[in-house]
Amino acid sequence: MALRLMRTYSVSQLPSTHNHNLEMGLNMVQNQANAERVKPSNSQRLFHIADATLPGAALGSYSLSPDIRLIYSHGKGSRMWDVDGREYIDYVGGAGALILGHSHPAVVRAAQEQIARGAHMFGSLNDVAVKLAARLAKDIPCAEKIAYATTGSEATAYAMRLARAFTRRDKILKFEGGYHGNHDYAIVSTFPKRRARYPHADADSFGQPAATTSTMLVAPYNDLNAVSNIVNEYGKDIAAIFVEAVQRIIPAQPDFLHGLRTICDANDILLVIDEVVTGFRLCYGGAQTWYDVKPDMATYGKVVGGGGPLSCIAGRADILDLCNPNYRGQDGFTYFNGTLHGNPVAAAATLAMLDELRKPGVYDRLNQYADNLCRESQALLNRHGIPAIAQNTGSLWQILFTDKTPMNHTDIMASDQVAMRRLDAELMKQGQYVLPGVRRFVSAVHDAKDLEDTLKGLDAACRAFNRLG
Ligand SMILES: Cc1ncc(COP(=O)(O)O)c(C=O)c1O
Repeated sequence: MALRLMRTYSVSQLPSTHNHNLEMGLNMVQNQANAERVKPSNSQRLFHIADATLPGAALGSYSLSPDIRLIYSHGKGSRMWDVDGREYIDYVGGAGALILGHSHPAVVRAAQEQIARGAHMFGSLNDVAVKLAARLAKDIPCAEKIAYATTGSEATAYAMRLARAFTRRDKILKFEGGYHGNHDYAIVSTFPKRRARYPHADADSFGQPAATTSTMLVAPYNDLNAVSNIVNEYGKDIAAIFVEAVQRIIPAQPDFLHGLRTICDANDILLVIDEVVTGFRLCYGGAQTWYDVKPDMATYGKVVGGGGPLSCIAGRADILDLCNPNYRGQDGFTYFNGTLHGNPVAAAATLAMLDELRKPGVYDRLNQYADNLCRESQALLNRHGIPAIAQNTGSLWQILFTDKTPMNHTDIMASDQVAMRRLDAELMKQGQYVLPGVRRFVSAVHDAKDLEDTLKGLDAACRAFNRLG
C-alpha cells in the first residue's frame, strides 16, 4: 500500500483501467442484484460511483467504514435523510455552520430571493455584502474593519499573511492539536503522530514544504508558561499567536486567553482568535464576547457564511487596511482576492441567520439543550459502566473516554480513542449522525423529541458497545 501511495504517474502512463472503474462498479451492482433478484438500493449504486470517482469515496478527510458510511440526500431542521429514506438526528450540523439546522425557512427565503436578484457581482461591491460588513463591524468586538474570504481556511491563511506583513516577522505560534484549516501553514502539529518537541512544528501532510513548516511554532494549549518560554526565545520573530477559544472540544481555561493577550502586548505580537467555529456559536459575537477578550484580528466562517461560501477576517483597521487595493505596489500592501469574496447569496443567508440568532432566548435554549444532553448522557454512560465523559462548552459537545476535562492535546491523545470511535459508530447505527471521534454540534432547532430519541439511541449504543466488548 505504501509503495502504491508513493507511485507517481506521468499523464501518458495513467493506468488504462482508470476510466472503466465506474462502469465496472455499476455492472457489479447490477449483476449482484440480478443474481439475488433484488433491486440495488440507491446507496449501493451511489457508493459504486463514489468509489470509482472520489478518492476513498470521501468528501474531505472522512472515510467511514462500510457499516456506517451513508449517503445523505436532504435535511430539515435537526434531521437528515439518506438516499434510501432512513432518518438521522444530525449532530454534525455542516461542521457547525448550520446553527439553525437544515433549511431554516428564513435562511432559505433570503438565499432564494438573493439568487433571483443575482448570484454574484465579482469586482464590484454589492448591497448585501456591505450591509453584512456593517453588521459584523458592529457585533464583533475586535472588528474595526472586515475583509471577506470564502472559507475558514482562506480566512486564516489571509490573517497569517496580514500578521506577517504588519509585523514584518515570519513566525506564527499555534497550539498542538489546534485546527486552523487545510493550508500549508495551518496543518502543522494538528494531528501529531509522535511526542511533541515544542516548539518544533511537524507537518501533518505530505506535500508541505519544509520552508513553510519551519515558520511555524507550536505550544501546548492552556499552558501560559510554555508560551512565555517560547516567546522569550523567539519573540522577536513571532508575528502572531493563533488560538482557538475552544480547541476542538478543549475549553480555554479562564485566564488563558487573557494571559495570551498580555504576552502578545508585551512583545508586539498580534493575537488572532480563530472564531471559525466559536463565532456566533458560543454566544452572539462569539468567543471574544464569551471570554471578554479582544484580539487584534479574528477569523470567522461557518455561521458567518450562513452555510454558504463566505468567511471573513475582522480586526484592527491599521492591520486590515494593508489589503486596501489602492495601496497596491506600496510598502506593506498585502494581496487579497477571490472570485467569491463577498458573495451576496451567502451574505444574505448570513444576515438572515444573524437576525434569527439575535432573537431573545436562542442561545439560552441552544446551550441548555447541550447541557441537558451531556448531563443525561453522562448518567447513561455511568449506568452502563462506560468510562467516558460527556463534555460540552456551549453547544459544542463530545463523548470522550477519559475521566477528566482535557486541558491540551496530550490529554486527548491519552484518552481511549479506539473506544470513543467504537461507541460513536454504534451511535450512527442508532440513527444519529455523528462522525466517529469528531467534536459535534447542537443546533437551535434540536428539541425535546430529539433529546428523548438521542438518549434512547445512546442507551442502545451503550448496550451494543458493552456486548461487543
Ligand atoms: C477553528 C477552525 N478554523 C478554520 C477552519 C477551516 O474552515 P474551512 O473548513 O471552512 O476551510 C475550521 C474548520 O473546521 C475550524 O474548525
